[in-house]
Amino acid sequence: MKTQIRSVSALEILDSRGNPTVRTFVELEDGTKVSASVPSGASTGENEAVELRDGGKRYGGKGVEKAVANVNNEIAEAISGMDATDQKAIDMLMIEIDGTENKSRLGANAILGVSMAVARAASISVGLPLYKYLGGSDAVRVPVPCMNIVNGGEHADNSVDFQEFMAVPHGAPGFREGLRYVAETFHVLKSILKSRGLSTGVGDEGGFAPDFKSNEEAIETIIEAIEKAGYKPGVDISIAMDTAANSISPGIDGNYDLIWSGKGKMTSDELIALEGEWIKKYPIILWEDPLSEGDWEGFRKFTALHGNDIEVVGDDLFVTNTKYIKRGIEEGSANSALIKLNQIGTVTESIEAVKMCREAGWRYFISHRSGETSDTFLADFAVAMDGGHLKTGSASRGERIAKYNRLLEIEHELKGLAEYRWK
Ligand code: PGA
Ligand code: ZN
Repeated sequence: MKTQIRSVSALEILDSRGNPTVRTFVELEDGTKVSASVPSGASTGENEAVELRDGGKRYGGKGVEKAVANVNNEIAEAISGMDATDQKAIDMLMIEIDGTENKSRLGANAILGVSMAVARAASISVGLPLYKYLGGSDAVRVPVPCMNIVNGGEHADNSVDFQEFMAVPHGAPGFREGLRYVAETFHVLKSILKSRGLSTGVGDEGGFAPDFKSNEEAIETIIEAIEKAGYKPGVDISIAMDTAANSISPGIDGNYDLIWSGKGKMTSDELIALEGEWIKKYPIILWEDPLSEGDWEGFRKFTALHGNDIEVVGDDLFVTNTKYIKRGIEEGSANSALIKLNQIGTVTESIEAVKMCREAGWRYFISHRSGETSDTFLADFAVAMDGGHLKTGSASRGERIAKYNRLLEIEHELKGLAEYRWK
């Protein structure tokens, strides 16, 4: 059988932060040979699937030789000879042989690399682009790029508490134009920062990370850049926020400390009030992790207040895990879940998380990690899942641009069939 898996192996490579990660190779009986590379987060949720790191001296303990060995030995033995089109069976078998709740024995980094490479190999072998292989012939919507143009929090060394400020070109007629809108805004923002003597160095996801005096100065400067670039805030381009509130909640328990700006301690209600003022004042369309993952009650209150007007996304709260998304649906904690493949560790489980959101009438927001590689799996995955939007960083840094360029290619390939709409 031509889609039968002939060999599986892995290699330790570096991610965009210069930390080790896993690249996996899968070869099929028909000679198809592919690789896939695993991303890695910095502001991670407590309940994420476990990235297996070696500890010890190499790379400050961050080596992944154990995960690589797990692919080369146990996983390779288990799945060699299986049919690469049996994605679910392969993913479930890896979960079974790992034997833990959180993939901590073999490592989510070992398992996900194989899962992605298997999907990619199967798609090539059956002659379909990856987005069509995973999403069927209905997969024609190219996502609105939520471009993270200012980085704060854990992703930057500056005085901004909120981790991500994304420009969202939902008013553009198509992906190519949308990408242009926000790339132009990025360049205008750069010249504004320069003219004010602020740094134009970039953070982990390629957004600027200047020492704004306040969180407000960050969003107001972005709005100024949108206007100067010739676009209407709220009409052509809106703003999406990610507080990544775990990073400002030392015990991730709903007690906050806005350490970077020096604003100091806040209760959950005070943070909700501050974010509520922003929603009133600024053209905000989406807010991710407005509260920390231990603050389910805060999430519920936030969603009750704003869930009819904006998309409220749980990232660290749900960690792409149906167990937590289910609770969120029952409790009204959000109306959308962030989907990060390595938070859960297989392609199959990521698709299950998407399905659960869809069935509940929720949205889902496909996302990269702050540590990435030039692998473009995410771009195809976002089109396949038909979620309407994705986040994959700024208009700088090759590992981010690689995904945008792949989306341009997909839109081009789809020709007149390509769709672009926020909802
Ligand atoms: P991470 O950040 O990849 O560092 O977790 C992304 C996010 O919080 O959305
Ligand atoms: Zn987040």
